[in-house]
Amino acid sequence: MARFHALPVAAVDRLTDDSVALTLTVPPELRAEYRHAPGQHLALRRLVDGAEIRRTYSICSPAPDEDGPRTLRVGVRLVEGGAFSTYALKEINVGDELEVMTPAGRFTLDPAPGMYAAIVGGSGITPVLSIVSTLLARAPKARFCLIRSDRTAASTMFLEEVADLKDRYPDRLQLVTVLSREEQQAGLPSGRLDRERLTGLLPAVLPVEQVAGWFLCGPFGLVQGAERTLRALGVPRARIHEEIFHVDAAPPAPAVTAPAHSTVTARLDGRGGTWPVQDGESLLDTVLRNRPDAPYACKGGVCGTCRAFLVTGEVRMDRNFALEREETEAGYVLACQSHPVTEKVELDFDR
Ligand code: FES
Repeated sequence: MARFHALPVAAVDRLTDDSVALTLTVPPELRAEYRHAPGQHLALRRLVDGAEIRRTYSICSPAPDEDGPRTLRVGVRLVEGGAFSTYALKEINVGDELEVMTPAGRFTLDPAPGMYAAIVGGSGITPVLSIVSTLLARAPKARFCLIRSDRTAASTMFLEEVADLKDRYPDRLQLVTVLSREEQQAGLPSGRLDRERLTGLLPAVLPVEQVAGWFLCGPFGLVQGAERTLRALGVPRARIHEEIFHVDAAPPAPAVTAPAHSTVTARLDGRGGTWPVQDGESLLDTVLRNRPDAPYACKGGVCGTCRAFLVTGEVRMDRNFALEREETEAGYVLACQSHPVTEKVELDFDR
């Protein structure tokens, strides 16, 4: 069950003009709760003018051992007008305490021998940094090809950390950098990493069919273009893992009107309840009015924190950028995007 704890900030490192890495100290009694897989994220919350805001940030530090992490490091990039990222870049100091949810997310890799690859854009490097460093340290026979796209070298997050990994594992880490607004002295010409570019680039830099797992992370356009390119190159869907950081488009208009007297029954942390769904609200909002401990972070269909199993009934999701097809086929839904189609809907957040 997801929980929040106050964790002190141990370090604030400026990565670029518009991004920082926050290091949080995890006290011994909470280490087991913050044990995480490489690629998972943390939701941070704060009150702004009496309203709670939450944002998820990926963990960039390697996965800890069995005892759990002593520290956690997350990357935060400034989003224009962003209530949390502005606060993180301008106000957070060492010694402050942040309200931090226990780790979540399924954009993860179990270290194993083999060839893996990632295509990342901008801050999409953050979870992949954790994945690469954990994999190379724990699976001596594994190799990784990291293809990253950024605007300029100066705007590239974790430049030093990636260079350190390349120094440590020169034969097992392949690094391909494309800058969209700057020519590099050595390396690939500048430009966007769109489908056309990837279609030519991927087979030229690695044996596409031998890659056991692809990790795509960054803005929606880049992830979608990379996924379509890989599928066109014959990569099976099951080998592609995606995490989207920004979705600009508004959700589509509802195609189905909710029944007049629908109710949701939800099981959460071992306890259940049944409540009426108010007109237009998501099932997550219905549950939250009655159970403020219901898990969520983005409320935008992106992070997957509100995932629940649909036990009975039918729902319509506005959008889903978080669940894999296997998860929706298995019966999981995003509560923050779900509206009832049947009068009775039952969700299980514990499964
Ligand atoms: S809260 Fe992020 S997908 Fe629902």
